[in-house]
Amino acid sequence: MRALLSPSMMCADIEKLSETLKTFGECGIEYLHVDVMDGCFAPNFTLGTDYVKKLRELTEIPLDAHLMIERPEDKINWFAPRHGEFFSVHYESTPHVHRALVKIKEAGARPMLALNPHTPFRGIEHVLEDIDAVLIMTVNPGYAGQKLINGTIKKIAGLREWLDETGNGRIEIEVDGNVSFANAARMRAAGANIFVAGSSSVFDKNFSLRDAIKKLRDAVA
Ligand code: DX5
Ligand code: ZN
Repeated sequence: MRALLSPSMMCADIEKLSETLKTFGECGIEYLHVDVMDGCFAPNFTLGTDYVKKLRELTEIPLDAHLMIERPEDKINWFAPRHGEFFSVHYESTPHVHRALVKIKEAGARPMLALNPHTPFRGIEHVLEDIDAVLIMTVNPGYAGQKLINGTIKKIAGLREWLDETGNGRIEIEVDGNVSFANAARMRAAGANIFVAGSSSVFDKNFSLRDAIKKLRDAVA
């Protein structure tokens, strides 16, 4: 599967938003990762419906919305999901994960199921036909700038193998959290193909946006 980049918009400088999006467009960035936190499921408040609306006005790059909220099945339609976009909901966030995934599909977007670092992937067996991707959290949801939880690399490899063996080779794997240049290469080798790029890579202040994107593309090539 081709490696795709999804810069984490909570790490983007608000003052330079249009400029950043223009650069992303020119660099062929595939998705924009939008972290939505509700202060309940995740210990922070981040981006929301108005921000999503604004992004869609400013760019054609499809969104990769990551809902870290309780009861996502009641709130998915607030974001008016679009064809070609990814929407992810957390396995741990609701007893009605299947309903949430179906709502995303009915709205026309691509359902992705997110798993916290401690959540075993085999529990998702019964919804595999309802998803296009699995999001493996490689840090705990809540903040940018955290350190990779090492065991998650093995989890990515195990998940990729399990999906391929069970005839679900079409399901993509996204990784989110401390996707640094070095960690991204390890995640790629383990079988991930969508990379959430935050303060550890694309928004690393030591590089220009363009240089950081190139460095990350090289790391996952
Ligand atoms: C949470 C976020 C963060 C973050 C990623 O879901 O997506 O993990 O922005 O960027 P890092 O970990 O590189 O700061
Ligand atoms: Zn995220």
